[in-house]
Amino acid sequence: MRGCPRQSREQLDRNKLSLGLFGVNCSGGLAVTTVPERWDASWENNQKLACMADDAGIDFILPLGRWKGYGGVTDHNGSNFETLTWASGILASTRKIIAFGTVHVPLFNPVVAAKQMVTADLIGQGRFGLNIVCGWNSDEFDMLGIDLAQHEDRYNQGQEWIDVVTRAWSCTEPFDYDGKFYQVHKTDIHPKPYGGGQPIIVCAGNSHRGREFAARNADMMFTNIGTDLDEVPGNISALKEMAAAYNRDIRVFSNVAVVCRPSKKEADEYFQYYAVENADRDAVENMIVGRGLNKPGVPEERLQEFRIRAAGGNGALPIVGDPDDVVAMMKRLSECGISALAMGFTNYLEHFPYFRDEVLPRLVHEGLRTE
Ligand SMILES: Cc1cc2nc3c(=O)[nH]c(=O)nc-3n(C[C@H](O)[C@H](O)[C@H](O)COP(=O)(O)O)c2cc1C
Repeated sequence: MRGCPRQSREQLDRNKLSLGLFGVNCSGGLAVTTVPERWDASWENNQKLACMADDAGIDFILPLGRWKGYGGVTDHNGSNFETLTWASGILASTRKIIAFGTVHVPLFNPVVAAKQMVTADLIGQGRFGLNIVCGWNSDEFDMLGIDLAQHEDRYNQGQEWIDVVTRAWSCTEPFDYDGKFYQVHKTDIHPKPYGGGQPIIVCAGNSHRGREFAARNADMMFTNIGTDLDEVPGNISALKEMAAAYNRDIRVFSNVAVVCRPSKKEADEYFQYYAVENADRDAVENMIVGRGLNKPGVPEERLQEFRIRAAGGNGALPIVGDPDDVVAMMKRLSECGISALAMGFTNYLEHFPYFRDEVLPRLVHEGLRTE
């Protein structure tokens, strides 16, 4: 990874498979479900969970960038913390864990965002990470009065945005930038990120253009795993080749929805209970429509698959089983070339402790983690 040594890079380098918690800043988290124990994203719960994960040696905590609920019975994700202020609070409450901000390019002036991120990074003494999202759901952009640009332009704007942010972080002299989307003059911000390096950068996306953008700019690409795991190693090699063309290295991390119980039967039954029988169906449909996945011609079978994945974990790959099953799947993903997993649990505070006690030691035993 580029940049000077900083605590967050060392943290991610320490484990062959890094682990994080994903989506805890939003009500419901990743699980689009009506079950009564669904995630209550209060600040107290966020802070308690972050401290618990920090003590357990979990590497990172990554928020969803979300401004509006998905409707349905629960208005899934309708209560949500803005992620840069959230990360600052989490970093002030913890010692080792990396906290990301998930930043929507079109919503933040890059110089203001650069300063906000430096503030979070200094609070966390180098533990802040940036997850860039270029925009996805038009309904939430409508709520904010911002037009969601066409796909190609989103990434063109994203490139200018990251150019301005990284220059603001690193330039010791005032600089000008004259782009199509941003023009800044005599820009000079202080202080700089912790220790003079730059925060870890992650880009989330799936498309070819999204991969190109990540290859050029990110330390890690955050991407969904499809249904065919055999395709993963080839996809990762291709991404690494794209990054190599920019003289860079890139790692891949992905999202998973974890249900870990003493037996496979119990885990399967719990998945069926929260993600199938008690899915928040309207919220799931709104998620599908919002992401444009209901295009004419998409086979019903594919949509049905997505519905279950959406309800199970906002599109994440479900990992469901006893501790050995969970470890076996994580090992397989690591062997496919995945460097980090961002995990969702239906109720993080209730379900994470069993994972911590049963799965983490097994991952150490397998040589995937050091603690
Ligand atoms: C794993 C993953 C997580 C994402 N998380 C968010 C998020 O929290 N907020 C958001 O607005 N978009 C999120 N996105 C959307 C992407 O940033 C991007 O806008 C979307 O994937 C469409 O771009 P693409 O066609 O290049 O994939 C996520 C995408 C992926 C694959």
